[in-house]
Amino acid sequence: MGDKMGITVKSFESKAEMYAYITSLLPTVTEEADSIVSVLANSSALLNMFLKNINWVGFYLLQDEVLKLGPFQGKPAVTRIEIGQGVCGAAALEKKTQIIDNVHECDNHIACDISSASEIVLPMMAGEKLIGVLDIDSPQKARFDDEDKRGLELFVSELLKYI
Ligand code: SME
Repeated sequence: MGDKMGITVKSFESKAEMYAYITSLLPTVTEEADSIVSVLANSSALLNMFLKNINWVGFYLLQDEVLKLGPFQGKPAVTRIEIGQGVCGAAALEKKTQIIDNVHECDNHIACDISSASEIVLPMMAGEKLIGVLDIDSPQKARFDDEDKRGLELFVSELLKYI
């Protein structure tokens, strides 16, 4: 499908360039998509194609005050996360991006894949309203930095226009 859409992985000078590129591909991967599942499924596939050293990427969506597992790439994961629980629940409660350099030293971390070492979680907001979170895990410690935070916040803010 990536090939049919003309999307191929290439290398970039910087993370900022990579995030700008994948953000520019959102109209392509969401073309004719008229469901949130389709949009988020292709978005998780896009992130999985381009981000190096990750082992899980996907979405939890807020429904009935609980984060429920949405489209993702990676191993099967917990299906429900309470607000405030885990790194995803902290992002949802604080409505702020969370970066965990070493998940093994984080008390409020829910382990899904034992190979995960670091994690970034971004809240997805429609104005003041929380829709869900984007969660990305890496087997490498301290994989995510401020450049990833900026790039992914740009990606998420653009993605929200399609859902
Ligand atoms: N680690 C997350 C749980 C979800 S899995 O990583 C996919 C958390 O602590 O909220």
